[in-house]
Amino acid sequence: PHPFYAALRREAPVSQVEPGGMWAVTRYEDVLYVLKNPQLFSSEGFRPAVQPAWLQQRNPVADSILMMDPPTHTRLRALITRTFSASGVARLEPYIRQSAGEIVDGMLARRKVDFMAEMALVLPSRAMSALLGLDPSLAPRFKTWADAVTGVGIIPADDLKRRAELTGYLDELTHHLTGVLELRQREPGNDVVTDLLQARAQGGSMSDDELLGYCVLLLVAGLETTYDLLGMSALTLADNPDLWARLKKDRALVPKFVEEVLRFHAPSQSTIRTTTQETELGGVRLPKGATLLVQFVSANRDESVFPNAHRFELERTGSPHLTFGQGIHFCVGAPLARMEARLALEALLEKCERLVREPGPVTWNVAITTRGPAVLPLELLP
Ligand code: HEM
Repeated sequence: PHPFYAALRREAPVSQVEPGGMWAVTRYEDVLYVLKNPQLFSSEGFRPAVQPAWLQQRNPVADSILMMDPPTHTRLRALITRTFSASGVARLEPYIRQSAGEIVDGMLARRKVDFMAEMALVLPSRAMSALLGLDPSLAPRFKTWADAVTGVGIIPADDLKRRAELTGYLDELTHHLTGVLELRQREPGNDVVTDLLQARAQGGSMSDDELLGYCVLLLVAGLETTYDLLGMSALTLADNPDLWARLKKDRALVPKFVEEVLRFHAPSQSTIRTTTQETELGGVRLPKGATLLVQFVSANRDESVFPNAHRFELERTGSPHLTFGQGIHFCVGAPLARMEARLALEALLEKCERLVREPGPVTWNVAITTRGPAVLPLELLP
């Protein structure tokens, strides 16, 4: 898609891809303007994407902060800022480091593995179960649940079998999280659910739907994106032995590598906004109620902001990539995602001599806003 985005940035930076459809926003400057002006560009436009007319129950994520505007967004977001700060997530570091080490040992014992199934899925699932206080043995269900939360908006309307399946997964997810909320009400733990309940008890007003929506959003937002980030990181290292060698020699480069993977591959490719009034963007008049597809993936390769934007370069300074968004909705989980990626890579670099890609093309996942490998066969050399 990159040559296509480059052409859009040059010739039609704010354009309707098909008549009556969404508006693609592709330049860095315009993407940043949209994110920084929530009074003009609302996040409520997300809701129809997860709450299709056929779905009879409430999709819990529709009641989450991702899909809210101020002042409700401001009130609810304030409740978890501390939990997710860099020092807040540091409490998970020993557990995630140990998990990453165990996963790499397990992969080394078999040598040839699907990295996506063995590491990219398992590490974020463990982090999320610790964070939300979910039973770790349920971890294999997390991705199924997360895929159902986002999948209801994109399945063909006449696929009744798939509809019934996804409805069942949403019920299962709601059932388990409600159980955790009830348990933590009685017995506080060391997790974000307890933090949220305490914030509510101390006067932070939050309805039951908003509380459940929060937990579901965390699970979904924390899983798929981190899964893609880990997959793209391993793929990049397997395909570039020189980069692998540099990181192996100098571990201090790992965070820089992770930032460049985030910029270059943008695991979260885009987000959605709707205009609250008629307005102008990049010289184009937009009507009230226009839906925008805000393309981080394109902004991150904008040549006017990133020199040699199409080259993967470890030593970048200057403007930040937009993969975690910007402004009031800036990703709450950014410190956690960065930490998971760093610890996974450190475990690989410490225990493996090299990562070798098994022959054959990579298969990609199919989703609207995220992108990463679906299956990534690798050989780990001890
Ligand atoms: C919001 C990306 C990991 C929790 C966002 C947004 C982006 C993003 C782009 C803003 C969307 C918008 O403005 O519409 C990513 C990427 C990740 C990642 C690329 C990993 C590589 C995580 C993790 C968690 C998390 C690990 C939690 C455990 C959230 C939450 C929001 C959010 C709660 C909503 C914030 C708000 O609306 O104020 N993320 N995310 N994310 N993310 Fe992440």
